[in-house]
Amino acid sequence: MTDPLRLGIAGLGTVGVGVIKIIQQRANLLAARTGRPVQIVAVSARSKDKDRGVDISGYDWEDDPVAMAKRNDIDVFVELMGGEDGPAKAATEAAIATGKDVVTANKAMLAIHGQALAEAAEEAGRVIRFEAAVAGGIPVVKALTEGLAGNQVSRVLGVMNGTCNYILTRMQSAGLSYDEVFEEANQLGYLEADPNLDVGGIDAGHKLALLSSIAFGTQVDFDGVALEGIGQVTIEDINQAAELGFRIKLLGVARMTGRGLEQRMTPCLVPADSPLGQLEGGTNMVVLEGDAVGQIVMRGAGAGEGPTASAVMGDVMDIARGFRLSTFGQAAAGLEKANRAAVAAAAPYYLRLTLADKPGALAKVASVLSDCGISIDRMRQRSHGGTDAPVLIVTHKVAAPNLKAAVDALPTTDVVIGQPVALRIEDL
Ligand code: HSE
Repeated sequence: MTDPLRLGIAGLGTVGVGVIKIIQQRANLLAARTGRPVQIVAVSARSKDKDRGVDISGYDWEDDPVAMAKRNDIDVFVELMGGEDGPAKAATEAAIATGKDVVTANKAMLAIHGQALAEAAEEAGRVIRFEAAVAGGIPVVKALTEGLAGNQVSRVLGVMNGTCNYILTRMQSAGLSYDEVFEEANQLGYLEADPNLDVGGIDAGHKLALLSSIAFGTQVDFDGVALEGIGQVTIEDINQAAELGFRIKLLGVARMTGRGLEQRMTPCLVPADSPLGQLEGGTNMVVLEGDAVGQIVMRGAGAGEGPTASAVMGDVMDIARGFRLSTFGQAAAGLEKANRAAVAAAAPYYLRLTLADKPGALAKVASVLSDCGISIDRMRQRSHGGTDAPVLIVTHKVAAPNLKAAVDALPTTDVVIGQPVALRIEDL
């Protein structure tokens, strides 16, 4: 048996503890699969004495993750601290500069600094692997970089934040408001320390930007992701969309168009009977489309001790086996800057309006839509008891600027009450 692969682990939260458990419980299996022992040499976290339910007494303790990253008795720096800057980035840079490979679960750091870190790693002859940063236990980074490497990828889409999917599906199943389910998710400990990372779409946007880079051979471009969170999604829209045969999801979509790279993380409608439409609770789903393979659907836990540790270990095992892959699937120095598409591709939209219940109201709405070049696919006016009439419209495909023009113009008529709600319907 050859030399052990020696790890230093920074961050002993849920994921770090999960990694330690796998290594402690499955030493023989890991060695059999890689041909060498996988050993933890040192660990680092905020508090040494906290009871984490695992025995760390056999590992050296380091208060400072940067110092640990520089140790000359580790081969791989496992970064599980999180945070886009600060100690995570400093320690990752120190690890690369002192000749270590890096395995990280840190989507924020890579979404912002991924290009610079990947270039530094390449120059130093080291690798950075980040399977655990995207969709928890789903091996989507490996699928894109390895299994689908022969494809021209046309689209990457999916639900990449379990907390948002929990909130949206729970609103529907329990008939609760956004605020009520947000509080429930908070009590259950589902939300990040900064909840806006989840409900503002930022966490999922980081993940999408990382997948885009691999899929389209562009430099990771988080600022190019059009972001909109789920805070404005109402139970009324969830119910109305359901009546029309749709579900509302915080959906990430990345595709290379003739107009440039389009990246969106926004609430969208998807068909209720599609795999994405049927995704319940805190689960993630990533759909990959390639010219040779067609469509692949991957579903699994997007967070949690076991699933995320599983992804970290997949990367550790690759390094132990001597498999060395560029961070984003090709040489970082050769990645082009993403040319951003100025507007999203045309799509059908769901429109919800409240109309004054008087003669000619629908005619005025139809006239605004017609003026904006929007064709109606379906329309429904539900029964109502008052003087307002709730109206649902599904449009044919329309360009985003035309849709915006209509949404701006509708409230200026004397028949539309309040602000219309418009949500994109994603083709699946
Ligand atoms: N907070 C994320 C989620 C997990 O709810 O999916 C970490 O990215």
